[in-house]
Amino acid sequence: MAAANGACQDRVILDQWHPLAAVDETEPGVVHATRLLGQPVSFAVTPDGRPAVWRTRGELPAGTPVDPESVTGTLPSRCEFLYVWTSLGDPPERSFEIPEFFEPDRRNFNGSTIGVSTSAPRAVENFLDMGHFPFVHDGILGAEPRTEVVDYNVAVDGNNEIWATECQFWQPAASATATGGQMVDYVYRILQPYSIMLYKSCPAAPERMDLIGLFVQATGEEHCRAHMFLSLVDDESSIGFIRQFVQTIFAQDLPIIENQNPKQLPLDPQAETPIRSDRASILYRRWLSDLGVTYGVIPAA
Ligand SMILES: [Fe+2]
Repeated sequence: MAAANGACQDRVILDQWHPLAAVDETEPGVVHATRLLGQPVSFAVTPDGRPAVWRTRGELPAGTPVDPESVTGTLPSRCEFLYVWTSLGDPPERSFEIPEFFEPDRRNFNGSTIGVSTSAPRAVENFLDMGHFPFVHDGILGAEPRTEVVDYNVAVDGNNEIWATECQFWQPAASATATGGQMVDYVYRILQPYSIMLYKSCPAAPERMDLIGLFVQATGEEHCRAHMFLSLVDDESSIGFIRQFVQTIFAQDLPIIENQNPKQLPLDPQAETPIRSDRASILYRRWLSDLGVTYGVIPAA
């Protein structure tokens, strides 16, 4: 639930780090405008990737040349894990760790940033749901009749992150480089209320995992920008080809996600049929309730 002007009032959400844009897709030295949690914010980066983020002010419209280091009255900001991050509250020193990001043979890049007409928690929950693969991504991430979601483990860890482990799904073309069907191992990790990471067995190096993150910027309660973080061991295909693959998958999800009703995620356990709500979704909804999140959700009665 938001205030009458659409702004977020949840302390837990205001105090998070939120992504705004991929650093290397942000033209340096000029003002960029976006929205976060129902409020207009502006940002700029220096040529060497140091950010400034501030509440939008009339004298600095988008496109204005600016030295980010000269801007006063800024919000907390950092460039980390490919993106410009900010907070409208009092954020922690670190948000989460991704040790794999620093492995020298990985390619880390933004797969895509896509505006979605739904709440951030709906976008996260859709990403968490393996059950839709054969129906929405038929021939790529799943195929009928192999529709079974085998049992897996899901729990909250000591850092208050949700981990779903030992997930497996049969996929006809699991990645941009796959040449045939295979059982694919998955781990899902919910890092913070609007950010989720998928660890997926890697065709190029069977003992390692590719990382696919969905870092969601809640522009409003029912609209978001999904930033797709990729950290891949594979070194064969071009970044353009992988981006095209990712965008194809996302284009299949988009009409399904945007047509979900209501757009805000209901947290009442009785609110939606259990078919969609598998164990990971149930835990995600309860965890949001326990954290006191009301923005982008319909709180339990
Ligand atoms: Fe999907």
